[in-house]
Amino acid sequence: MQTDILVIGSGIAGLTYALKVAKDCPDKKVTIFTKTISDETNTKYAQGGIAGVWNKENDSFEKHIEDTLISGDGLCNEGIVEIVVKEGVDRIREIIKWGARFDKEPDGDYALGKEGGHSEFRVLHHKDITGQELERALLEAIKSQPNIEVITHCFVVDIITQHHLGYLVTKSTPDIECFGVYALNLRTKKIDKVLASITLLATGGNGQVYRTTTNPAIATGDGVAMAYRAKGRIENMEFIQFHPTALYEPGLRGQAFLITEAVRGDGGILRNSEGEAFMVRYDERKDLAPRDIVARAIDSEMKKTGTEQVWLDCTHMDKEKFVHHFPNIYDKCLSIGIDITKNMIPVAPAAHYSCGGIKTDEWGRTSINHLYAAGECASTGLHGANRLASNSLLEAMVFAHRAYMDTVKKINNGLNGEWGRWNRQFIPDWRTEGTTAPKEMILITQSLKELQLLMSDYVGIVRTNTRLERAMRRLDLLHEETEELYKATEISPQLCQLRNMITVGYLIVKSAIFRHESRGLHYNTDYPVKSDLLQNIVL
Ligand code: FAD
Ligand code: SIN
Repeated sequence: MQTDILVIGSGIAGLTYALKVAKDCPDKKVTIFTKTISDETNTKYAQGGIAGVWNKENDSFEKHIEDTLISGDGLCNEGIVEIVVKEGVDRIREIIKWGARFDKEPDGDYALGKEGGHSEFRVLHHKDITGQELERALLEAIKSQPNIEVITHCFVVDIITQHHLGYLVTKSTPDIECFGVYALNLRTKKIDKVLASITLLATGGNGQVYRTTTNPAIATGDGVAMAYRAKGRIENMEFIQFHPTALYEPGLRGQAFLITEAVRGDGGILRNSEGEAFMVRYDERKDLAPRDIVARAIDSEMKKTGTEQVWLDCTHMDKEKFVHHFPNIYDKCLSIGIDITKNMIPVAPAAHYSCGGIKTDEWGRTSINHLYAAGECASTGLHGANRLASNSLLEAMVFAHRAYMDTVKKINNGLNGEWGRWNRQFIPDWRTEGTTAPKEMILITQSLKELQLLMSDYVGIVRTNTRLERAMRRLDLLHEETEELYKATEISPQLCQLRNMITVGYLIVKSAIFRHESRGLHYNTDYPVKSDLLQNIVL
């Protein structure tokens, strides 16, 4: 198969980019691959909203920039922060033009929410299902674009580079070229060679590497693992954000329901098992301190009291207002017997967001030519050591736009040069000889369980050198066993995802081992203080 522009992922980053390129280049074919159904993405589950300087009377670009920098704990790229905050407002206007609806006040102004680390009310939202609304609007908008094709149930396995033409490719190869991907079509069960002039990775996050996560099952870090295998640069993977308040349901493994931080923005209070509002002991911003601080405080309270959860108390909040802003949360709690007007909500931290990822420049370009990355799989420099709440949807739109601008420039300049000199007709088809259908699924499911447990136990909110070293040893074994299985077994999404998640686990642990300090989301009790040396860990 051949296409002009290949987009991997149908979340906010992939859809925004595809829409823009397709509109601007009507003679180019834009193909979107997504591994399950179109809207099953992290985007769909976003609750709180999109941060943007909307009310210039109280708010300003400077304040949003300052809040982002404080949250990032010294590691944000200030130029990138400025770009995202300043350009973000136009991107929000664009998505409104494409049909996204945000809640309004009775006077017609947009209703702005507040979340941890924000000094002002600046979060545009659609009730507590902002992501669902954005995904709906974007999928609707691309329907009217005849040169976009969305192929669902298509699992991308690997990026094609000159390695597949028989050339040696290492991290120090200066001009690694991306020619497209190998993708497993889950309907035909065949692995297709898909050639493209330009490829965008918009594959989202990797929360599934941990035992409990707010992320859906698709969030397995495929893009990061593929880019790493293709010898692309990967940055700051140790900064995994744990959301402080996922709904606690005993024994749950996998996706946990999120209780948005906006609930605390509207007055919700965290309490420990003794009923104490403990955040006052940890930070003067109390329940609205940045996420790393709140998640660590909860972790510490749970460890002190030997519990697996704390409480989010909303019983004092106005019921009508709560139901109006958070209807989905209200209904979910009620469905499991929690009436938020009478009962506190049991919550615990869960893996939520990957601040690092595929290293990109200010145009979304990766270290591999003709390969862009945008959205959660990318590391643009915006988040530093800790992402400010509701900045990721914004970042995804800004970098989808910037990657689109650069793509169009490339197309207009002609795609020849280095890329054109390769004999792409010699790229081989995927080879399946010598592999057999998986006989023992338990080998895959059990390894996944082991991976998630070891990451949660040893590479969670609080880390130590011993735990990280132990995690690395366990990962080595899982890696070895899984590679053997991969070589001998027919490709399946489950096996590929396991392999990708082991790679992502390795990248997180390796980066964490390299960081000899505690900063932002990376807290190692063997190095409790911040180093004077500001460094990004690039693998
Ligand atoms: P996604 O939306 O995750 O899309 C990834 C796409 O890639 C999917 O279509 C998937 O099928 C595809 N894909 C992945 N691997 C492959 C493969 N191998 N082959 C083919 N396709 C593949 N951020 C905010 O700013 N504000 C919020 O309020 C907010 N709330 C959140 C609440 C929850 C519960 C969660 C989980 C996240 C939240 N976030 C929020 C974070 C934000 O939603 C995500 O970072 C963002 O939506 C990611 O968008 P994306 O386009 O990068 O990826
Ligand atoms: C939330 O609504 O609490 C999540 C917001 C985010 O992750 O940015």
